[in-house]
Amino acid sequence: MEKIIEVNNLVKEFNGFRAVDNISFSVAKGEVFGFLGPNGAGKSTTIRMLTTLIRPTSGQAKVAGYDIATQAAKVREQIGLVAEKIILYDRLTALENLMFFGSLYHLPRKETKERAINWLKTLEMEKWANKLTGTFSTGMKQRVNIARALLTKPEVMFLDEPTLGLDPQTSRSIRDFIKELHAQGVSVILTTHIMPEADELSDTIAIIDRGKIIALDTPTNLKARIQKEKPTLEDVFLELTGHDMREETHENIPSARGRHFLGSKSRIR
Ligand SMILES: Nc1ncnc2c1ncn2[C@@H]1O[C@H](COP(=O)(O)OP(=O)(O)OP(=O)(O)O)[C@@H](O)[C@H]1O
Ligand SMILES: [Mg+2]
Repeated sequence: MEKIIEVNNLVKEFNGFRAVDNISFSVAKGEVFGFLGPNGAGKSTTIRMLTTLIRPTSGQAKVAGYDIATQAAKVREQIGLVAEKIILYDRLTALENLMFFGSLYHLPRKETKERAINWLKTLEMEKWANKLTGTFSTGMKQRVNIARALLTKPEVMFLDEPTLGLDPQTSRSIRDFIKELHAQGVSVILTTHIMPEADELSDTIAIIDRGKIIALDTPTNLKARIQKEKPTLEDVFLELTGHDMREETHENIPSARGRHFLGSKSRIR
């Protein structure tokens, strides 16, 4: 099995708080790797490290054969990232946005334009190419955002909650698009809170909780662990991560310390 990502003992601490706690895993070339976990589990932090946006506190990782710490520029050439926040300029059209990002990525103009139009077509956004993105719905913006991440023809795509806040139609089209990428041999790292989505798309699933990987297997094998008729991935997820909701912030984060005013025993009535 050829590996496109190899992670060894990766740690990220924020002011002494371990957001990612010594994780190790690998992703096979060409697979869709579902990276699941409750709020605050460490998914986005891991993705930020693997996409070279933040530096690990310790540990190593290789993406497409390059070390994320010592060969960050090489890593960036191989990857595409759809992060939690959509980055587009409202006062530019869809195509202008893509041309602008193409220039940031040092792509030739002609090639950028061809690729941009091609991706806009695939994502059913072609007729909006010359409209200002500021007028777009979230779903339309996300489709342009995905086209943006694909401009460099990445070997590895990181999709951090790509269907967050999208209607069923747009979510469906994005899921179909992920299958299309898969069929083209692109390796995909996908985070989502939508369990049927993860189940449908992923070849392998990793579940991270409180910074640690607590399960890593195929969806089928994970579901086989549950003693019930027709188990779902949600059953697996809740079985492994429990039913307690997660605190959104952590006490060790300075900006969250004001929360102590409420007292640890306070309850909303
Ligand atoms: N820049 C930062 N400074 C301090 N703490 C941070 C920072 N980024 C993330 N954290 C903390 O690290 C933990 C993991 O956050 P992360 O964003 O990776 O979670 P996540 O799994 O992506 O969650 P979600 O499903 O809510 O997106 C959280 O406790 C978060 O508050
Ligand atoms: Mg996140």
